[in-house]
Amino acid sequence: MKIFLDTANIKEISQYAYIIDGVTTNPTLMAQEKTGYQIRDHITEIAKIVHGPISVEAMSQTAPEIIIEAEELAAISPNVVVKIPMNEAGLQAAKVLSDRGVKTNITLIFSANQAYLAAKAGATYASIFVGRLDDIGHDGIQVVSDSMEIFRQHKLETELITASVRHPLHVINAAKAGSHVITIPPKVLSLMFRHNLTDVGLKKFSDDWAQLAKKQGTGI
Ligand code: G3P
Repeated sequence: MKIFLDTANIKEISQYAYIIDGVTTNPTLMAQEKTGYQIRDHITEIAKIVHGPISVEAMSQTAPEIIIEAEELAAISPNVVVKIPMNEAGLQAAKVLSDRGVKTNITLIFSANQAYLAAKAGATYASIFVGRLDDIGHDGIQVVSDSMEIFRQHKLETELITASVRHPLHVINAAKAGSHVITIPPKVLSLMFRHNLTDVGLKKFSDDWAQLAKKQGTGI
């Protein structure tokens, strides 16, 4: 399962660049960054750090407008993947863009039927928002699992992204469901490194090493 980082923050992207395969942004994440950059400069900056796909959202409403905006965004960097909303206008645009070789990520998907339609429209990626489903008492990972079964059975080429990730258990369950990609907020990724037993074990090794050093020095 590929890991994308769900942030537009340059510092966080730099911190985890060695372990991530791409980045996803959205208007909310972009708005949190007070960089003073134009969108174009911000994306160019991210592309210098990460050499994988960078999702950037198109905000137009109609299919013709989405196509124009998507082509402008895609021209910023070959790594740009244009995020397009899951609705009829979005999928009409995605089909045209896919035929023209522009990479797309259909966003705000909440059902396996929506994921299936995104794949039929030729989207490069389809993003299922598991956390927002869990928030309203649904089972987000079940939608990932159902969608993956459909994608596998019908040999659909679209890659499924598990998005709206809230905690490390989402990562384990998305991987078990076979999700091609997961996009993880930096805060959740930082938790994945940690285990209390690792901290306890490191402290013991460090203490024991200090004892040994007292007796015979630390040379190897
Ligand atoms: O990038 C899309 C998605 O991951 C946003 O998640 O936390 O706003 O539901 P969230």
